[in-house]
Amino acid sequence: MPLPSTARLPPLVSRHVAVIGAGAGGLVAARELRREGHQVVVFEKGDQVGGTWVYTPKVESDPLGLDPNRAVVVSSLYKSLRTNLPRECMGFRDFPFVTRDGKDRDPRRFPGHWEVLMYLQDFATEFGITELVRFETEVVSVGLAEGGKWKVKSKSRDRIGADEIYDAVVVSNGHFTEPRIADIPGINSWPGKQMHSHNYRIPAPFRDQVVILIGSAASAVDISRDIARVAKEVHIAIRSVEDSTLGKHPSYDNMWLHSMIESVHDDGRVIFQDGSTVNADVILHCTGYKYHFPFLETDGALSVDDNCVGPLYEHVFPPALAPGLSFIGLPWKVLPFPMFELQSKWIAGVLSYRIALPSKEEMMEKVKAFYSSLEASGIPKRYTHNMAITQFDYNNWVAAQCSCPSFEEWKKQMYLVTAKNRVVRPETYRDEWEDDDFILQAQEDFKKFTTLRGLAQ
Ligand SMILES: Cc1cc2nc3c(=O)[nH]c(=O)nc-3n(C[C@H](O)[C@H](O)[C@H](O)COP(=O)(O)OP(=O)(O)OC[C@H]3O[C@@H](n4cnc5c(N)ncnc54)[C@H](O)[C@@H]3O)c2cc1C
Ligand SMILES: NC(=O)c1ccc[n+]([C@@H]2O[C@H](COP(=O)([O-])OP(=O)(O)OC[C@H]3O[C@@H](n4cnc5c(N)ncnc54)[C@H](OP(=O)(O)O)[C@@H]3O)[C@@H](O)[C@H]2O)c1
Repeated sequence: MPLPSTARLPPLVSRHVAVIGAGAGGLVAARELRREGHQVVVFEKGDQVGGTWVYTPKVESDPLGLDPNRAVVVSSLYKSLRTNLPRECMGFRDFPFVTRDGKDRDPRRFPGHWEVLMYLQDFATEFGITELVRFETEVVSVGLAEGGKWKVKSKSRDRIGADEIYDAVVVSNGHFTEPRIADIPGINSWPGKQMHSHNYRIPAPFRDQVVILIGSAASAVDISRDIARVAKEVHIAIRSVEDSTLGKHPSYDNMWLHSMIESVHDDGRVIFQDGSTVNADVILHCTGYKYHFPFLETDGALSVDDNCVGPLYEHVFPPALAPGLSFIGLPWKVLPFPMFELQSKWIAGVLSYRIALPSKEEMMEKVKAFYSSLEASGIPKRYTHNMAITQFDYNNWVAAQCSCPSFEEWKKQMYLVTAKNRVVRPETYRDEWEDDDFILQAQEDFKKFTTLRGLAQ
């Protein structure tokens, strides 16, 4: 049997690696790549680290985000956003997301968005990552160059730079910026206003309005509550809903749940599939986001189809282009930062030839088998990177590739308990919980890292 291609080469090769994006994914990728001995340049089109967590009151000129010429705003955060995961679960392994003293710090267990940004800034400073970042520099094209290397072109203040050659490119450009919109029959003659949650910031503009939100995930749940404080009526249209949950929301006087919108009309009416009708002012699409890699030139070796990026070996390496091209952070319904960290360690180790990848053919076989298993289970293509409970096996598998300790059991249990608490206490789960035993286990685990840095828990 032939050796896996990467196993034939000498160990611990140092590579010249371009990382795209200085959000949580790019920052931890830079750290792990450098720790492995690679030379790293991080390209960041914004002027600071943090990606999604850099809140801005600015919104895009096209509230639906459809105009390809609009000036893109990266972050989809709204002003009142608090994390929906407990901070113990969010941090990187040896840099836990513990409370810190200081102006504007938010000590809550589910803190406001600015606390996460400050945590990422602390991380970048602590590990000297900021100096690896070229700010206000957008990658505009990435393609194969001679000898299996990669050509990266970037733009800085509207000036296109010369091609630069790298041994590898790690893509961590985030995937919560490019809105996905629901098709609604009759929408072109509907007189109301439409927007996507990407461009939602504060409830004030919705005062006394009748608002319809589409979607049943985190954005729809949170934004409907934010808006209900001021709106006349809030209606939520959900495409996969049980009839028993339809009707007036038990905890709100002005909120109703409906099945999906069937059609909209030029007199302002919105008709739902359950037969109910509402005259609405606004439709707010809380319908999630699309993977978007406008800079990638792969000659068809990689594509995005119905929100499936593929083919990808274990959501990271395109078999035909591995290990030179890799992706951090594509899976969703996960604990993002810990997964980014493991994927980063894997990529770093593969690039130095400390970790072997299977042959391209074997990787492709694995990918095909994965796609077949999804199809056989009736899982829609758009859920290819949706992990939820499977994230723990995945994390442990990646950790094993890297010879790292497996995923912390308390973290898994805390994630599961939090998910249950969110259902039991949808309004208050961020401030009321019953998993103090897991918090103690987390704090015990963190001691070895926090005492090193002289931090409080
Ligand atoms: C509304 C919302 C709430 C969330 N809440 C939570 C939560 O409570 N807890 C949690 O753990 N996670 C949460 N997440 C998930 C969050 O996205 C991840 O935690 C994480 O921040 C994603 O990091 P990233 O590096 O993958 O992407 P991003 O944070 O999006 O960073 C990508 C970076 O790449 C840069 N970039 C993009 N294209 C280019 C280019 N061509 N050239 C140069 N730079 C480029 C961008 O400017 C950006 O800085 C939330 C996400 C959203 C949208
Ligand atoms: N910290 C917080 O409190 C917070 C708040 C908001 C968001 N977030 C995070 O932000 C990320 C994005 O969340 P999100 O809620 O914006 O997006 P999302 O998780 O992708 O959910 C999109 C929702 O829209 C529905 N949908 C998509 N297309 C539709 C269509 N054509 N017709 C009808 N319904 C459609 C989806 O239904 P299907 O499942 O059927 O496709 C799903 O319910 C997640 O990681 C989330 O955790 C966090």
